[in-house]
Amino acid sequence: MSMKVFKKLSEWREYRRNLPDAKIGFVPTMGALHEGHISLIRRCCRENEITVASIFVNPTQFNDKNDLKNYPRTYERDHEMLEKSGTDCLFYPTQEEMYSDNFNYRVVENNVSKVLCGLSRPGHFEGVMTVVLKLFNIVKPRRTYFGEKDYQQLMLIKEMAESFFLDIEVIGCPIVRESSGLAMSSRNERLSEEGRKKASVLYKLLSEKREKSEINKSLEAEGFQVDYLEDLFGRRFAAVILENVRLIDNVQL
Ligand code: PAF
Repeated sequence: MSMKVFKKLSEWREYRRNLPDAKIGFVPTMGALHEGHISLIRRCCRENEITVASIFVNPTQFNDKNDLKNYPRTYERDHEMLEKSGTDCLFYPTQEEMYSDNFNYRVVENNVSKVLCGLSRPGHFEGVMTVVLKLFNIVKPRRTYFGEKDYQQLMLIKEMAESFFLDIEVIGCPIVRESSGLAMSSRNERLSEEGRKKASVLYKLLSEKREKSEINKSLEAEGFQVDYLEDLFGRRFAAVILENVRLIDNVQL
């Protein structure tokens, strides 16, 4: 069966009214899909009767206007990948509908969102949590799937679901890596061929059982600008900049 696409909130709501709650799994995305996203879709399809994906490039989570402008928009390709991997419904809303409150409301968290990426990208996680809460209320899924590459995001969404008593199971899925070890990311597309090879060093160094200060030095020697390298929540996290592209990764300690 072909995938149903909903661009209007009213059309989705009409359709949603006739779907039973227990059967819906949801994968929110900003498009520019890769195998990491598709692994979430596949798992969602296995564990739920109806798989809903969304594509929405959320303006409130970009603290840098250029980053938002340069974010890859690859709708045709995304549509094809979602359909092929078994997605039943795609929600593809407009900014006007998602922010009909004219950006008046925001979800704020005062702990996990203030470290790591939250420090370097002020307001980023508020934007993420706000849009995800809106999407949860629109889609009303039973389960939802997030990748562990954005581990901090996953922690925050889990905690938000608990804090606001959302009846949604938030499921974290393992990072999908290229054969080089590089974590799949929409941002990898912006690296040159040489940059992409070099980027795989990040995972190798992060996995080494050495002191952070030594790994920091090795990253810099390889040409990465290190935004942070931190051990927290039982994991080692890094954000680096290479060829003007910000890359993040994390491993369990
Ligand atoms: O991880 C992402 O792609 C985004 O942060 C999300 C969860 C779709 C919210 O815009």
